[in-house]
Amino acid sequence: MEMGDILLYLLLLLPALLSYLFLRKHRRNLEQRLKLPPGSMGWPYMGETLQLYSQDPNVFFATKQKRYGEIFKTRILGCPCVMLASPEAARFVLVTEAQLFKPTYPKSKERMIGPSALFFHQGDYHSRIRKLVQGSLTPEAIRKLVPDIDALAISTLESWSGGHLVNTFQEMKKFSFHVGILAIFGRLDACYKEQLEKNYCIVDKGYNCFPINIPGTAYHKAVMARKRLGKILSEIICERKSKQLVEKDLLGCLMNSQDEKANVLTEDQIADNIIGVLFAAQDTTASVLTWILKYLHDDPKLLEAVKAEHKAVYDSNGQGNQPLTWAQTRNMPLTNRVILESLRMASIISFTFREAVADVEYKGYLIPKGWKVMPLFRNIHHDPRFFPDPQKLDASRFEVAPKPNTFMPFGNGVHACPGNELAKLEAYIVVHHLVTKFRWEVVGSQSGIQYSPFPVPQHGLPAKFWKESGSQSQGDVQERTEAFPKSESPN
Ligand code: HEM
Repeated sequence: MEMGDILLYLLLLLPALLSYLFLRKHRRNLEQRLKLPPGSMGWPYMGETLQLYSQDPNVFFATKQKRYGEIFKTRILGCPCVMLASPEAARFVLVTEAQLFKPTYPKSKERMIGPSALFFHQGDYHSRIRKLVQGSLTPEAIRKLVPDIDALAISTLESWSGGHLVNTFQEMKKFSFHVGILAIFGRLDACYKEQLEKNYCIVDKGYNCFPINIPGTAYHKAVMARKRLGKILSEIICERKSKQLVEKDLLGCLMNSQDEKANVLTEDQIADNIIGVLFAAQDTTASVLTWILKYLHDDPKLLEAVKAEHKAVYDSNGQGNQPLTWAQTRNMPLTNRVILESLRMASIISFTFREAVADVEYKGYLIPKGWKVMPLFRNIHHDPRFFPDPQKLDASRFEVAPKPNTFMPFGNGVHACPGNELAKLEAYIVVHHLVTKFRWEVVGSQSGIQYSPFPVPQHGLPAKFWKESGSQSQGDVQERTEAFPKSESPN
């Protein structure tokens, strides 16, 4: 190599070398000036994973917060983490400095859902997909789904009645899955729906299992089912293309999207996002619906007041002979407060994860690059400074809007939940039919929480349901469902 070449290389390497030295100096300065947040890192590698998973996670976080304050460090599953339990800190990570914190998920989960699903991304690709997902879930878009969700809620509740034992959470999962299908595909052929449900259930079972991909394990079965889901989605896309159908549901939006260079999304990108939305929509909504049912059961006075609100709607619909309308769902103030209070009490997404993409300074502390950062929604929702007597179910607290950034059941910032209106719509409709037509009893232990991984009442809230005499029969429901033939899309 000649001298000239060496000089050229050095010249080319110089900027990289200078920026490396600058960053190293900057980091040293930060480390000298700033300290890490208080807290304990536990055992090497394992950190405090056992403490977190062997006890109620709420107790773990609450004890830490009591001891160290609103920002503390720990190590979970080999990763150093900073946990943040104040509204300002959550806003800092999720909104004001969101570009410094990227979403982070275990690789096995990313592979299972599909690496192109929007919640794994940041920047241009994320904004492009997010616009499409958000666009298909706006109030204007979902109001068209009311008749179908209404019919689905009635037939679901009807199937529970008669006094047999029902696992409320598992049944709510079926309901929220089918609402997800409606939002994604509009009215989908029953055969496709069946295949999607069957394979999605296998994916769901394997998702939280230890990721060993060898035949026989739940994880392997889930990987195979995920492949089949991709094939089914590809067939649905192919059929739409061949029929030249231009739908406005989520699948339609994803299929018709073009970026500024007229690039369309690949089938894998579409499939990953469809599975991603189904995944984000199912357990979360089912869990909240289960909690609402439990809270109403446990508070007879509240139940009576909610019944009175719905009786007026029921009567104005000719004793439930006409379907619920979008406008009626917008006018259920007490039910709205019960839903918000249930979201606060249960705090389904107790926390979320991000990863610092650079060294970050927050309130005099260093959050080192590569560390995980966890805004603790549940701690904020259960902080007596923002929600007095936080363990008490009190829907009236939502007569006044909560203080800014203290109530984040659907997250905050660029990754906040685009399905929040749909989830609430499902709750209005289920509560309406539940309290006007049914009575129910919870069976067995009525306290206790289980994490699946979202908090759910113990054993999924086993319950028995009976139809109140004088309310409508299944025949009326079928008539209403059949008023929308399968091939006709509600969009
Ligand atoms: C009560 C039910 C629900 C709750 C409590 C909930 C909660 C959340 C939260 C907290 C986030 C933000 C997570 C983060 O920042 O890391 C989120 C994101 C998301 N949710 Fe929901 N969700 C619910 C229902 C739904 C439904 C029904 C849909 C779709 C039909 C949906 C689709 C999504 C999607 C696609 C994201 C990712 C958004 C992004 O990364 O830009 N969710 N959800």
